[in-house]
Amino acid sequence: MKEANLLDGRLVAHQIHRETMEVVQKLRQHGVQPSVVFIRVGQFPPSELYVRMKQKKAQELGIKSQVISFAEDVSQNEVLEKLYQLNQDPSIHGILVQLPLPSHLSEKEIALAIDPKKDIDGFHPINLGKMLLGEKDCFYPCTPLGIQELLKRYNIEIEGKEVVILGRSNIVGKPMAALLLQKSKYANATVTIVHSFSQNIKEHCQRADILIAAMGKARFVTKDFVKAGAVVVDVGVSRVADASSHKGFKIVGDVDFDEIKKIASWITPNPGGVGPMTIAMLLSNTVKAAELSLFS
Ligand SMILES: NC(=O)c1ccc[n+]([C@@H]2O[C@H](COP(=O)([O-])OP(=O)(O)OC[C@H]3O[C@@H](n4cnc5c(N)ncnc54)[C@H](OP(=O)(O)O)[C@@H]3O)[C@@H](O)[C@H]2O)c1
Repeated sequence: MKEANLLDGRLVAHQIHRETMEVVQKLRQHGVQPSVVFIRVGQFPPSELYVRMKQKKAQELGIKSQVISFAEDVSQNEVLEKLYQLNQDPSIHGILVQLPLPSHLSEKEIALAIDPKKDIDGFHPINLGKMLLGEKDCFYPCTPLGIQELLKRYNIEIEGKEVVILGRSNIVGKPMAALLLQKSKYANATVTIVHSFSQNIKEHCQRADILIAAMGKARFVTKDFVKAGAVVVDVGVSRVADASSHKGFKIVGDVDFDEIKKIASWITPNPGGVGPMTIAMLLSNTVKAAELSLFS
């Protein structure tokens, strides 16, 4: 049997960035430069890296960006004050607070404090609710949106298909399910979510035409979970010890890529699949926020 084709997130993200850049240029002709603020708290190396990557890409696309870094012991009020100030500033179109936050801060309260019109991460309850209703004048969470876009651009049939999602987080699993079961194009799927209380996880997965793994459990999904010809999307990012790497670890996904590529029809590489799509959708959301601001 032929090996799976790659759902190349880097390639598709590159196309989306080009489209985003064209919108940035059009907005500039109307005197608007899209602008985003990234907020970081404490010193958590993966978060620092993610923010650096997002900021670099924003700058390449002509989006103005700024990073605000708070110390680990910043108070909830200080963060909220800053958010209220940024909400009021008409020159700022998008605000992103990089997660995770230290445990003394309430992620829920912080998500609520961001103006939904600037919530480019799509985590505000108003945006999540609008997404559930299938409305378009809002922001959808970037990782699920990026996965749907990746499937769409590779013409993967979603309608009527069995989709199984491993993981039910508010930022990946639940919004992913909501997007793919919408009564609309590139959706209309039959969706199952499994989580840590689910029974017979492997049997659910074996039914999937499209399997989306978002658990953060290194190589949990082995070949015996996957139906021949299935489409497999690997969202997971886990560190595992690796003596051959100078860092002492390497990053792996939730999926045993080398084995599953032998039986799947399509598979995301990891890295190079979902990650670049998440950043592409974030910057596309930023530009959408700037466009919507012209009409509000
Ligand atoms: N590449 C990207 O752009 C990107 C973006 C976001 C996240 N990620 C990665 O994707 C992964 C998931 O992220 P997240 O924020 O959704 O994680 P999360 O909040 O930790 O959620 C993990 C989900 O997986 C479920 N789960 C964990 N272990 C399980 C098991 N043994 N059996 C069944 N279900 C299990 C949990 O079930 P319960 O609800 O029952 O606890 C939970 O619903 C992480 O590795 C994260 O780093 C990548």
